[in-house]
Amino acid sequence: MKLWVVEDYQAMSRRAADVLAREIKRKPDSVLGLATGGTPVGMYQELVRMHREEGLDFSRVTSFNLDEYVGLPAAHPQSYRTYMEENLFAKVNIDPRMTHIPRGDAPDLEAECARYEREIARAGGIDIQVLGIGRNGHIGFNEPGSTAATATRVVQLTRDTVEANARYFDSPDEVPTQAISMGIRTILAAKRILLLASGSSKAEAVQRMLEGELTPELPASFLRQHADVTVVMDRQAASRLPAATIAGTAAD
Ligand code: F6R
Repeated sequence: MKLWVVEDYQAMSRRAADVLAREIKRKPDSVLGLATGGTPVGMYQELVRMHREEGLDFSRVTSFNLDEYVGLPAAHPQSYRTYMEENLFAKVNIDPRMTHIPRGDAPDLEAECARYEREIARAGGIDIQVLGIGRNGHIGFNEPGSTAATATRVVQLTRDTVEANARYFDSPDEVPTQAISMGIRTILAAKRILLLASGSSKAEAVQRMLEGELTPELPASFLRQHADVTVVMDRQAASRLPAATIAGTAAD
């Protein structure tokens, strides 16, 4: 794994956007795996800036998001589809037909999961997958207990995740408790992985991901099985790593 420890959230966002921009320039028809949540918002802002000011071209890019809440139609204000429209898709020249997010309101959820896997395969697989990390070490919505063999499926969100997501909803009972998520196997099949972590609430998960046991109890630990993972984290997220590990990483 390649580790970058940078000063703060802004530096993390710029570095992450830079990695994606290089990928898009190298391969204009890149297939991007995208994440939602609080962490990548700054990265999307930077990508939008690069599009507007530097002409970063998304016209041939395809995207697949990691997950979507079960039960929310695409147009729901808290759906991940809405998040992606607001943070990126509506602000760059990506072709809407090339953007993929599981349909959380599909009548047959199992069929929707199978369809999603097929679409990823049909696009030639994911070139670079962006990930955040949950406080409990989840990636996508692969909660503790998820094995490395999992594909896209309906998952039950843990109480911790539901609580962490509650900040976006008016009341805690509105927070969905299930999601469709790419599996660990789906994520590990991406050619490259870029994981972002910011803030002290992620420090323990980051430490266990890098130094703990390889276990379904900390799904992010499986990323150590992948040959091309870059972790960009700010100082707070890196605060539980030994000084020697931090000193050995690329500084900002
Ligand atoms: C988002 C996702 C989740 C988040 C994780 C961290 O698509 O799949 O794994 O990346 O829950 O969320 P934030 O960034 O809000 O701390």
